[in-house]
Amino acid sequence: MPPHPTLLLLHGFPQDNTLWQGTAAALADVADVIAPDLRGFGADRRPLPAVLTMEAYAEDIKQELDARGVERVVLGGLSMGGYVALAFAERWPERLDGLLLCNTKATADTPEGKAAREETARNAFDKGVAVIARGMVPKLLSADTRAERPELAAAVEALMARQRPEAVAAAARGMALRPDRSALLPTLRVPTLICTGDRDELMPLPTSEAMHLAIPGSALAVFPRVAHLSNLEAPEAFEATVRRFLASLSHA
Ligand code: MLT
Repeated sequence: MPPHPTLLLLHGFPQDNTLWQGTAAALADVADVIAPDLRGFGADRRPLPAVLTMEAYAEDIKQELDARGVERVVLGGLSMGGYVALAFAERWPERLDGLLLCNTKATADTPEGKAAREETARNAFDKGVAVIARGMVPKLLSADTRAERPELAAAVEALMARQRPEAVAAAARGMALRPDRSALLPTLRVPTLICTGDRDELMPLPTSEAMHLAIPGSALAVFPRVAHLSNLEAPEAFEATVRRFLASLSHA
């Protein structure tokens, strides 16, 4: 493991790579940080099918690494980004130096969850992504974060509201199709750090604790008063935790 690893960070839904802007800047002295836009999000203008599976995003990431000549990475993902990271880990474990799983889970959607995805996909076109964004902010940021940092809440809402309906719909439908990857967890052989917030209602703490128990040798960091966007809600604690994790890899 080189002293200056490549850290590849995948954003959640429906976001873009600006989710990781602060994290990338803060960790630039200890890692080469790559934070791509998943297909269709942010500045990405690749053609979009109606459905983009987590496996398809993972394939994009593999191609991007190949194109950059990067053989191995520490792969991080938040929420949907974590689903993609697990899809990647299943298929190309030999490309990983480590895994950083933030506010995410290995399980599949319930039937009700799948139906809600389809509604989200339709709403993206019928009501607009801005409406979806407004409804999501209270789920993504804790009440404390929203009260103390209204400018962050506004930035997160704007980050989501500017995404294209086609990208939002394709991702929502793709998430509905993702398989349960619980059986993958005990087979993972890379150092893994799981990060979450104790107020994350989308990925309640037992979800992260279960992943921690299932992944051999994994570490779990739980940030207090934080909901779903750990790296934005507790940037200093998040960055310090990831920094320690990266340092531990170079000594492994
Ligand atoms: C995300 O933040 O990426 C989403 O909340 C994930 C999901 O809806 O399952």
